[in-house]
Amino acid sequence: MTLPSVSRRGFLHSVGAGAAATMWIPKAVAGYTGVEIKAKADAGTLGVGVSKWELDTPALCVDIDKLEQNIATMKKTITANGIASRPHSKTHKTPAIAKMQLAGGSIGICAAKVSEAEAMFAGGVEKILMTTCNLSPHKIRRAMAIRKANRQYIQAVDNPENARDLNDAAKELGIVADVVVDVAVGTRSGVPAGEKALALAQLVDTLPNLTLRGMISYDGGVQHFKGFKYRSEEAVNRYAPSLETYEAMKKSGLNTEIFSGGGSGTYNIMHKVPGFTDVQAGSYIFMDAQYLEIGGEQNEKIFTDFTPSLTVMTTVLNTYFPGRLTTDAGSKALTLNKPDAIVIGEEGFSYNAGSDEFGAIRYETSNKTYKAGDKLELIVPHCDPAVNEYDQIYATRNDRVEAIWQVAARGHSQ
Ligand SMILES: Cc1ncc(COP(=O)(O)O)c(C=O)c1O
Repeated sequence: MTLPSVSRRGFLHSVGAGAAATMWIPKAVAGYTGVEIKAKADAGTLGVGVSKWELDTPALCVDIDKLEQNIATMKKTITANGIASRPHSKTHKTPAIAKMQLAGGSIGICAAKVSEAEAMFAGGVEKILMTTCNLSPHKIRRAMAIRKANRQYIQAVDNPENARDLNDAAKELGIVADVVVDVAVGTRSGVPAGEKALALAQLVDTLPNLTLRGMISYDGGVQHFKGFKYRSEEAVNRYAPSLETYEAMKKSGLNTEIFSGGGSGTYNIMHKVPGFTDVQAGSYIFMDAQYLEIGGEQNEKIFTDFTPSLTVMTTVLNTYFPGRLTTDAGSKALTLNKPDAIVIGEEGFSYNAGSDEFGAIRYETSNKTYKAGDKLELIVPHCDPAVNEYDQIYATRNDRVEAIWQVAARGHSQ
């Protein structure tokens, strides 16, 4: 991975990899499979602590201390800024983590897919805001079925026909469903800000089986703009039409109790928008190579507000060729996203996950001589799709597996 004006050594030290240097040293040890680890958990012997270095690979791990630290950082900052957080569960797809976020002060969670919302609800999470519209009759029925079972479910809507369909489905189930209007920033999703958005909000307000709760408005593009000052200015400027819509809704007497949006890149910016209520940040909980590159308020080059808590453990498979190593973590373990995965503790390694089953490392210098069977720890390119490659996350503390969390919504893309 190349970063313009920061050395890789400096970069890795800044993101905490320096601190991790004591634990990266690979060990040639037996690999425990997921089944074996689960058996240990069931027998109550997991607590004695299998090292993450002993896991069979590729294995997705999360450092609980760092995860908790990220939750605490989010809470501290948004509280100081007078807003709340409603983290996106599309990042982790894991009810156990959603519950930690709620316990850590979040007012609810978001879901991107109805199947994800179902998995969260089945996993014991009730405060769910679904940020994507459900258009097919099947999805509408499923969303309204969640609402019937769970009064705290809120559904996004961005077109009038869909609002009427939701209303009909809610009526059929004998419920009045909570709805937010999704107002577009850019062209991905949402009703255009202004007249169309206001008209939709008014329509929702008149439909007997829907209750308008306010609006959501998410700017995906701005989250990864590099440099805090530039990102701040752009985030606020690009949000101006959404703010005008919010004010028009308010002036018309519509319910605007929810004015939600923002992500990890703007979690400490969105409070500058008057009336804004909560940030939907997802990636902050894990961090990844993409977010490390955007720079933060304190560190212009590297986003150090949150600590990378999510890693993939990989095994070195081949060491025959000078300056090269092959690992078992390719695109199915890390995805094809860029920038490349970061090898913790080896500043000079470049990682290519372009092959399905293999990772290709190139290097000029290394901290040790590697042999087949050694293990390495990687920061993933982009956390959301990487997590979606795994059934479970090994939750570790001080490198020891403390729990196994099911990625309950893994593969739930409908
Ligand atoms: C609607 C919505 N809200 C929030 C997020 C969270 O963004 P991030 O993971 O960048 O914090 C996303 C991510 O794409 C999103 O689509």
